[in-house]
Amino acid sequence: MTVDAAPRIETTLAGVRLRNPVVLAAGTAGELDEFADALPLEEIGAVTTKSITREPRAGNAPWRLIELPVGMLNAIGLANPGVEAFVRDRLPRAAQLPCPVIASAAGHSIDDYVAVASAFDGRREAALIELNVSCPNTATGLQFGDDPRLLADLLRAVRPAVIHKRIFVKLSPGAGDLVRLAETAVAGGADGLTLVNTFPALSIDPETRRPRLSRGSGGLSGPAIHPIAVRVVHDVHRLVTRGAAIPIIGLGGVMRWEDAAEFILAGATAVGIGTGLFVDPKLPRRVARGLCSWTERQGVRSISELVGAMEAP
Ligand SMILES: Cc1cc2nc3c(=O)[nH]c(=O)nc-3n(C[C@H](O)[C@H](O)[C@H](O)COP(=O)(O)O)c2cc1C
Repeated sequence: MTVDAAPRIETTLAGVRLRNPVVLAAGTAGELDEFADALPLEEIGAVTTKSITREPRAGNAPWRLIELPVGMLNAIGLANPGVEAFVRDRLPRAAQLPCPVIASAAGHSIDDYVAVASAFDGRREAALIELNVSCPNTATGLQFGDDPRLLADLLRAVRPAVIHKRIFVKLSPGAGDLVRLAETAVAGGADGLTLVNTFPALSIDPETRRPRLSRGSGGLSGPAIHPIAVRVVHDVHRLVTRGAAIPIIGLGGVMRWEDAAEFILAGATAVGIGTGLFVDPKLPRRVARGLCSWTERQGVRSISELVGAMEAP
């Protein structure tokens, strides 16, 4: 048995067994399984698809991804082939993958989300559905993740349309009151939360005086958002999900196993990695191994015993 699959780091996410808590974040590891070229997916807990919309989207014009000293700024704009082509041409491959697939759904309207989520619901290749209501890079990408009333309306329509799968709702730290939005998601029937998406941000070239991204602003990810994301996970776990036993996928700026351990202690059941994959595609392996040794040093039989186990200051 490899350390990446040691029983002490196995976990269960809304009923889905993961061999370790490391999840590839939506949009950062290809559309589905392309990351297998860099690291065997046997070593990963779960992979999240690119966010898929009802219609195909070309995304924004270049430049749409830039590197900053503190992380990455992107305005990809949900480039994807659309749900019909994705489900027909790509998703069947997920049946052969050695780890569960979290299918990410995005949209501009309630009908869009219902269409994409119900298309995934009927497919056994998708283990879970993640509703991305927090994309800062399209005209309407943040609307449902920024207004509790709209989020409640969205879940009122999507929840009954999804019969077979558990639903995660992904929120952004740029949204107003994240605790309230998390409460709304849980009250609306979310089975889990993914915290966090990128943070709305802007970078300007002083010479041209133009934004560096063609769209203007974009979404900040990487080390700069890590402590903010840890606080969000901690607050939401303490105030919303702990009592309801709702799992959280914590993500934002994981570059070392210690960052992932912070998310676990703050209350996350699993930990996503996005920007870190661009820096080191083998990072998920290092994080899984680091978590395994840490769990052993902490003297617990299962990493689940460390979820939310931060000591008081
Ligand atoms: C290039 C890029 C594309 C992304 N595309 C998506 C996406 O399609 N859907 C989504 O929910 N999040 C998307 N994200 C956000 C990530 O999944 C993740 O929530 C965010 O980057 C924070 O994690 P990180 O700091 O580890 O990158 C994207 C991020 C990046 C950097």
